[in-house]
Amino acid sequence: MRQKVVIIGAGIAAHVLASKLYSHADVTMITKKKWNNSNSFRAQGGVAAAIATNDHWRMHLEDTLKAGVYHNNQAITELLVKEGQAILKTLLGQGFPADKDMSGQILLGKEGAHNKRRIIHAGGDQTGKYVIQYYQQLLRNKVTLIENQLAVDCVIEEGCCRGIITIDNKEEYIFHQADHVVIATGGYSAIYDTTSNDETTTGDGIAIAYRAGAAISDLEFVQFHPTMLSIPEKQNFLISEAVRGEGAILIDRDGKAIMEGRHPQKDLAPRDVVSRVITSEIFNGNDIFLDINHVNHFSQRFPFITSICERYNIDWKKGIIPVQPGAHFTMGGVETNEHGETSIPRLYAVGETACNYVHGANRLASNSLLEGIVFATRLADFIRNQKPLTSSTAASITQKEDMGSFALPEKAVLRKRMTAFVGINRESNSLRKMSDWLSQFIIIKDKQLYHHSFSKKQIELQHMLLVASLVTKAAEIRTESRGAHYRTDYPALVATWREKRVYHQLKRGVEV
Ligand code: SIN
Repeated sequence: MRQKVVIIGAGIAAHVLASKLYSHADVTMITKKKWNNSNSFRAQGGVAAAIATNDHWRMHLEDTLKAGVYHNNQAITELLVKEGQAILKTLLGQGFPADKDMSGQILLGKEGAHNKRRIIHAGGDQTGKYVIQYYQQLLRNKVTLIENQLAVDCVIEEGCCRGIITIDNKEEYIFHQADHVVIATGGYSAIYDTTSNDETTTGDGIAIAYRAGAAISDLEFVQFHPTMLSIPEKQNFLISEAVRGEGAILIDRDGKAIMEGRHPQKDLAPRDVVSRVITSEIFNGNDIFLDINHVNHFSQRFPFITSICERYNIDWKKGIIPVQPGAHFTMGGVETNEHGETSIPRLYAVGETACNYVHGANRLASNSLLEGIVFATRLADFIRNQKPLTSSTAASITQKEDMGSFALPEKAVLRKRMTAFVGINRESNSLRKMSDWLSQFIIIKDKQLYHHSFSKKQIELQHMLLVASLVTKAAEIRTESRGAHYRTDYPALVATWREKRVYHQLKRGVEV
């Protein structure tokens, strides 16, 4: 009998997993919006892999651990870079899109904290779009694709996951039975208001897994990318780090290079360092720009960024682009092992939703698409070797308890507060302000949402509020600064925190 696999999400991990499973299993992909709504689709930089002759996966490993401030699980991180190198070489041989030079050699880009050129990119700065479209072609008519359904809760029976409940645009709950449920909903950067992310990345998978009883870890680590386009109209366009990799520098309005003397790697220093320098400049009333005058063939190498500048009347030909930091990637998530298994049998997490500890306290540039590809491949191998469930289940979704009317905040208000109080710089007062504010709302943590009549909008807000409260708690507990987590009241790295993680799990509460 063929196994039934339901994948929640539509990013790179979901696509790779589906492509590896559809000939062995019945695969359904469920996405909250459209097939193209994901962070992966928006990815500009590329996929990091040590494929150059002067490179080695051990060097990639060292760069990854260093960027992660050695908070990574070293053995699993080794799988990422070692298997990543092999998988990428195979994929490139099979037609995986990559920009090449005139002689057919793959062009490798450079990004922050990499000691070698090892970023495979496509369409200049449109890697994610090209890669997702490549997989969409492979998957068309091979999997069942369901759009516009938001995941609500897992159905757990006898400690095992047996399916997932979603809500559609008609506000109806729908039960999808499965032998394996995979959460691949991305991270939680869209609980912040200035973000490079697709608006759909509201931490849904983490909230669902938490309410189901799974262990969640490392939520305090939120990476802020230094260079989002700074314009009043729209705040979620990234200016890829690859632009700095090709020679752009950060300057203030007087033309002074702001990273000079701040870090030995200057403009390509770790993202948290660069983001904090820009934030303090902006706080002191300065405007910050990327000076692109020394980037060769800017519009050819970065056609998407060029088009965005033109759409918002930024004359990139003058050589400067206004920038500001924004939430970009979340290192924490649903704890998994190296196969993608969570602490609940038959419930898995992969991609940014998962916390398999390969990124440590700060992800290295272009390791996220790589992670999605490597760990989706591993999870597919794992699921292929499992057996279908022997009994079926029918979740009761008809009886709904009315919650009555109760106040929930506007999404925009929650996002603004997360940026202000749990943002690039945190301290105990700001974190307390956030948790006090959150405490006025009913946040359902220990019961499943589908027993109540909620609208789709309310369910998304419940997911966001729960994740915001867990992130705030984790940030309060870690009384040190490490990688992307910066406490102004505890600015130093503390040796005794090195091996420690903040876990959230229903049955255990919060633990270190
Ligand atoms: C970028 O293009 O700057 C982002 C790449 C990444 O986050 O890996």
